[in-house]
Amino acid sequence: MELQSAYLYLAMSAYCDTKNFNGFAHWLKKQSEEEHSHAMKFYQHLLERGAEIELKPLGAPEEEYGSFLSFFEQVQHLILLKL
Ligand SMILES: [Fe+2]
Repeated sequence: MELQSAYLYLAMSAYCDTKNFNGFAHWLKKQSEEEHSHAMKFYQHLLERGAEIELKPLGAPEEEYGSFLSFFEQVQHLILLKL
């Protein structure tokens, strides 16, 4: 879940970079990094307890977000999933 979120945030950041929404791209990239750090905490926690780590494929992020409103609604949805 954490890696999937990191992946989605990174894709959204890339989308904003291509639209020259640099500030928002930066913020989304930071969210991606934060989610990745959460994943690594789980990873380390499991390793320290002798668990076997099995990575699964990540789902491909959206390639088209539609309108800007739709894009921001998808960002909002992702934010709310983190709660
Ligand atoms: Fe997280």
